[in-house]
Amino acid sequence: MDAAYLIEIASLLLRWLHLIVGIAWIGSSFYFVWLDNTLKAPTDPDLKAKGVGGELWAVHGGGFYNPQKYLVAPKHLPDDLHWFKWESYSTWITGFFLLGVLYYSQAATYMVDPAKAALTPGAAIGIGLLTLAGGWLVYDGLCRLLMKRSMLLFAGLYFLFVVAVAWGLNHLLSGRAAFLHVGAMIATTMSANVFFWIIPGQKTTVAAMQRGETPDPIYGQRAKQRSVHNNYLTLPVLFCMISNHYAFTYNHPQAWLVLTAILLAAVLIRHFFNLRHKGHFAWPYPLAGGSILLAVFVWLAPVPVKLADAASAPTLAQIQPVVAARCAGCHSSTPTLMPAPPAGVLLDTPENVRLNGPKILTQAVQLKAMPLGNITAMTDAERQLLAAWAAGGYR
Ligand code: HEC
Repeated sequence: MDAAYLIEIASLLLRWLHLIVGIAWIGSSFYFVWLDNTLKAPTDPDLKAKGVGGELWAVHGGGFYNPQKYLVAPKHLPDDLHWFKWESYSTWITGFFLLGVLYYSQAATYMVDPAKAALTPGAAIGIGLLTLAGGWLVYDGLCRLLMKRSMLLFAGLYFLFVVAVAWGLNHLLSGRAAFLHVGAMIATTMSANVFFWIIPGQKTTVAAMQRGETPDPIYGQRAKQRSVHNNYLTLPVLFCMISNHYAFTYNHPQAWLVLTAILLAAVLIRHFFNLRHKGHFAWPYPLAGGSILLAVFVWLAPVPVKLADAASAPTLAQIQPVVAARCAGCHSSTPTLMPAPPAGVLLDTPENVRLNGPKILTQAVQLKAMPLGNITAMTDAERQLLAAWAAGGYR
């Protein structure tokens, strides 16, 4: 088996697993934030005496459930206590390996964009790893500094920080790698919240109870704070993770602004759901989020090429050298830049080029997704030539 095939299998298995454990993690995050926001103070005096601060009734899968939340902790610790941590850790671990297989092992093609910065693959990987670690340090520092003062100030500053990272990465790495690393940075912060704060805080609480002491509520409160942050970060992270399918977003000259707008819309929409659990239907939030998304899509819409007269359009013979120079290095039965023709698309003969005309228009002109990372340095004039060829009916 050759290396390209092995990378493909590793990517398939890791992506599949990453999705499964990610669903388990984000699913439990959604569930617990919903639970917390929906709980009602108990009316039963026995429950109150036990220290229950909130409860609810739910029906699911044919059974009735009655979860109860204790204000700080129950008087006696149950023997069998479920911890939610592997959902998060396994999502981070599979994600990190996937990043390694897809981006770090193929950094020259997937991370470096020579039109932006002449980086070596090693330097691009270094920037990626530094983003993941640095993102956590800045978040954690801001959080420690500001959490007791103002939640809103913290949120504002952290958002500005993410925008700055998006801006910086978009000037250093390929758009695709930049978007993915903004997502991976936020996701690393979320997992680090679980690892460094939420789980240790809960361990301290449990240990105090085992010593027969009353646990300090501060640990629970801090864990809750971080857990709420994680909840707001879920939708932004998920967009970053799927963004590599949507080249029109990450290949835009102002891609960092596109990302900023989409992340802001995602947070606004998440906020609506969190308020809704508490019974408030704050429609201005999703309306604002939806309007931002709509504005972005209108802004990014491809501009159609109009020809004075179809007869003046370039012909296949005129555009063929462009495709040969910019595309065939990868899209050929004997590619030089890739182990195998990607996506099975062949652009090595005039006949193949003509057959793939509409696809070429989409990928190289409208979305600017191709050439991948513009590694073959295609110029805007060449894209215009392809556009004119398409407008003339691919003659
Ligand atoms: C460095 C290698 C490379 C070069 C050069 C390149 N491509 Fe691609 N192409 C890829 C890869 C890899 C994919 C698979 C899609 C992905 O991973 O995003 C692909 C996919 C495609 C697809 C299929 C997309 C789909 O989703 O169906 C088309 C069409 C395409 N390329 C056209 C072009 C055109 C036109 C050019 C030249 C302007 C070009 N490519 C240059 C690597 C390359």
